[in-house]
Amino acid sequence: MSQAITSSDFRAERIDTSNKWYELFQKGVELGTWDVETLFEEVDFRRDRERWASLEADERKQIRYLLSGFLDGEFAVGEDASHHLQRIVGAPCFDHSEEMGMYMTMFTLTEHKHTQFLDVYMHEVMGDQDVFAELNPKRGGARIPIVQATGLGEIFDRQGQLTARAAHSQDPVDIAEALTVYHMIVEGLLARGGFYSVNKLSANAPLPLLNHGFKLISTDEGRHITHGVEALGELIEKERAGKPEFQGVSEAIVDVLYENVGAVADFGYMFTDAVGDPLEIEFDDLLFRVGHLIDGQFNEALDLDIDHRTILELVADRHEDCLETDIDEAVREYRDRYQRQRGVETDGGR
Ligand SMILES: [Fe+2]
Ligand SMILES: [Fe+2]
Repeated sequence: MSQAITSSDFRAERIDTSNKWYELFQKGVELGTWDVETLFEEVDFRRDRERWASLEADERKQIRYLLSGFLDGEFAVGEDASHHLQRIVGAPCFDHSEEMGMYMTMFTLTEHKHTQFLDVYMHEVMGDQDVFAELNPKRGGARIPIVQATGLGEIFDRQGQLTARAAHSQDPVDIAEALTVYHMIVEGLLARGGFYSVNKLSANAPLPLLNHGFKLISTDEGRHITHGVEALGELIEKERAGKPEFQGVSEAIVDVLYENVGAVADFGYMFTDAVGDPLEIEFDDLLFRVGHLIDGQFNEALDLDIDHRTILELVADRHEDCLETDIDEAVREYRDRYQRQRGVETDGGR
């Protein structure tokens, strides 16, 4: 009997099959092709719909806030992956652009699929909500009011600006800044913090399809973050080897983290006592988790020196700002503003 064939037996001519990005690509093909519509059938979405209807109003509000942050976030990363990251991985500062480019196709596919999962879930299970979809942020339009009201929308704007600039300049320091916001903050801290919260809320509000979908999304995101850590690690390695054009990479990563880590509080607002936290997600637990993630991603994986206390102070300060803002009032203001914008769009500004 012949021996079992394993993936390590395969070699190619143009593609380096021993490369880590090839491995990520292959894993993406094997694991990342789950199908949203099939999942809705297999884990019958009508069970989630029934369960959703039985939840208290404040519980529904908390889940809606949390998923709104995810929906706008997934939409933003999907757009920036297809427009900018694909060009960034083709930059001459990377050694394996071919295989990175292959992986990026899987990466982008999964981001769009995450948007699809959330969008269909919110519509089919949670019922109609006005997300001002026609006021697309890429065309100067709108994000979901709660996302704007907490300030969370700003981190997605920053991600868009930095990835666009890096795609254009292909400069290693610009790329380091862009990938730090994209992979380390938005995916590494916000999305991972969100998974943790979905996991916790499921103890009080078991929604089988939501849980199942988030487990699959979380596995995909694990590969995305690995890609980000590997790409940043390569830039840092070249900086430490003394290559002139890479000087400033580590400092840029650290500065961008400090400048933008407050976004954790903007997202975290949705789990605080300010919204009653009826599902007992608990902001302090989230912060504790984020501290661990920062240690793992920046200090251990990238061998940088991030000061925990400074990070926690920055997040706590931003959280205070959120608590001092009347978020419900801000949500109403954004709704009104979008309604006016919608009126202008439909009558052409007359
Ligand atoms: Fe995603
Ligand atoms: Fe992602």
